[in-house]
Amino acid sequence: MEIVIRQDPADVARTVAGIIGDLVTKREGRAGRPPVLGLATGSSPVATYQELIRRHRAGDLSFAGVTVFMLDEYVGLRKTHRQSYATFIREHFADHVDISDNAVHSPDGETKDIEAEVAAYERMIREAGGIDLQLLGVGTNGHIGFNEPGSSLSSRTRMKTLTARTRTDNARFFPSLDEVPRYCLTQGIGTIMESRHAVLTATGERKADAVSGLVEGPITAMCPGSVLQLHRHATIVIDEAAAGRLANREYYDEVLAHKPAWQSF
Ligand code: GLP
Repeated sequence: MEIVIRQDPADVARTVAGIIGDLVTKREGRAGRPPVLGLATGSSPVATYQELIRRHRAGDLSFAGVTVFMLDEYVGLRKTHRQSYATFIREHFADHVDISDNAVHSPDGETKDIEAEVAAYERMIREAGGIDLQLLGVGTNGHIGFNEPGSSLSSRTRMKTLTARTRTDNARFFPSLDEVPRYCLTQGIGTIMESRHAVLTATGERKADAVSGLVEGPITAMCPGSVLQLHRHATIVIDEAAAGRLANREYYDEVLAHKPAWQSF
């Protein structure tokens, strides 16, 4: 894994936007196709989306032809609900750049047939040629997407029950804890592991334990993000506060210091 530690959240956002921007500009999707992006929700990637929108408005970045697959969605919220992840990605990103509406896909949390929906979602990702870059945040309990501790490390898109901790963490977006959904649809860990590049971003002291677990802990279903240690190309971009509990800091800095100049960030 590449561990990139930046001074503050704004630096983190610029770095992650740079990685996504490079891929989109080079149009290095599979077989010369525009790239397929896997995008995440939560507060962690918001500053990155703002930076991408800024670059787009400045005329530096076009998302024409790009396809997006969302990581997850709540079950039981209407697609148009303010807190549905389908709404989130439009509000925070897609509506502000040149991605066509029908190129943004998310699992349908209103479906009556979960089995058919999750199978169709996996099929759509496959037919698009797979995900070139998967953006990820991490939950305070180490979850990626909504793959909570205990998730199978080879799981596929499916329905999961949210833990009490995740519901409490996400209660800040809802009028009350009771209104936070109990179930979700999420890309599986196996699905995420098939992305060609996984870029995880986390900032702030409240993520320091999760970051330490996923970077330096054992690979375990109890910290789902730790599976990224097995990913063919994972980049972890964090700020000083989120890096606060890493024991091998010097090693990461040294590896980056010797990175060839053509591998920018
Ligand atoms: C949410 C999402 C995850 C996200 C995580 C962290 O529940 N399903 O994709 O990474 O929790 O959220 P935040 O960035 O707001 O801390």
